[in-house]
Amino acid sequence: IDELLAAGVSGKRVFVRADLNVPLDGATITDDGRIRAVLPTIKALAEAGAKVVVASHLGRPKGAPDPAFSLLPAAERLGELLGAPVAFAQDTVGPAAHDAVDGLQPGQVAVIENLRFNPGETSKDDAERDAFADRLAALADVYVGDGFGAVHRQHASVYDLPKKLPHYAGHLISTEVGVLKKLTEDVERPYVVALGGAKVSDKLAVIDELLGKADRLLIGGGMAYTFLKAKGHEVGISLLQEDQIPAVKEYMERAEKNGVELVLPVDVLVSPEFPDLKTKAPANPTTVAADAIPADQEGLDIGPKTRKLYASKLADAATVFWNGPMGVFEHPDYAEGTKAVAQALVESKGFTVVGGGDSAAAVRTLGFDENAFGHISTGGGASLEYLEGKTLPGLAALED
Ligand code: 3PG
Repeated sequence: IDELLAAGVSGKRVFVRADLNVPLDGATITDDGRIRAVLPTIKALAEAGAKVVVASHLGRPKGAPDPAFSLLPAAERLGELLGAPVAFAQDTVGPAAHDAVDGLQPGQVAVIENLRFNPGETSKDDAERDAFADRLAALADVYVGDGFGAVHRQHASVYDLPKKLPHYAGHLISTEVGVLKKLTEDVERPYVVALGGAKVSDKLAVIDELLGKADRLLIGGGMAYTFLKAKGHEVGISLLQEDQIPAVKEYMERAEKNGVELVLPVDVLVSPEFPDLKTKAPANPTTVAADAIPADQEGLDIGPKTRKLYASKLADAATVFWNGPMGVFEHPDYAEGTKAVAQALVESKGFTVVGGGDSAAAVRTLGFDENAFGHISTGGGASLEYLEGKTLPGLAALED
């Protein structure tokens, strides 16, 4: 983007592909981290006199307009953060979008409606995506990719559109890639990775890669129960992916062979039922050893001994990557595990990276100061796929 700004953008229509896919409670944004993260790019372009056209997806609508997934709340929040009015177009490539863009003066910003209201955005059919990208290209002279959270998607606005316009990487993408490079090339050791979240299947590829890179892997969240089962423990009615047990067993063997310390919970909080996340009524969980989960109970957070153990395993790290909550942190009775890991990162003298999605939202909603972390990524899936060593379509298109 510095190259673009140096060349001058005054009066040019610049399409910024952002990731404004923020968590919503109705029309209320519960974490605006992703909007704040793209501000430097939007501000720099506006200050340079560009007509800024901001586009993003939000949620997973089915390729048609759906008010529940409107980008309007994100556009309003963007206007508040910019301290300037932001025009909002109620369609994506139709007359409203063209009117909004035509109405922009240099230095002004417009947001177009959710890209995924059009089936061409996410289509697997190259021609359908290409046709939608052509319609988006008609709205701008230049493309700036800055939606790091979506660079792993081969979608029209991420992958096809940059090929049609002069294209540049925004500040956010440059920062994110710079940080993740530090974790993949010449990482400072000990390199400790904490992984949580519900499903092992989402993390298989990254675990596979990390078994050759990390010094220590701490496992928590729903996925821990598949590891405990693979170790031979009963897990009651906890989340379990039976079909992943052979892969997990193979990982445990490989960790031992490679000298990677694979650490599993030693105790967990259990309850016969999943907590009510709306009323947050007290759940009164019981703490049990990880090899003594009762048959009629499910594990919902790591226990106090595990919290201490994981904090001690993080204490001497020179580099930390953390992705995925340790428990059902949305309920106060099951938030302590996630808090303990976040606190260990805050206290760490090493370089700490929080990998996007739920963990980024968790540190903010649990009241941590985001400046206490080395970097909080805006990409959940994107940062994991980067660490897996995959080619990310949105980055490849910008490098082209
Ligand atoms: C994310 O939240 O990880 C990104 O915004 C991508 O969203 P998606 O998983 O719906 O493509």
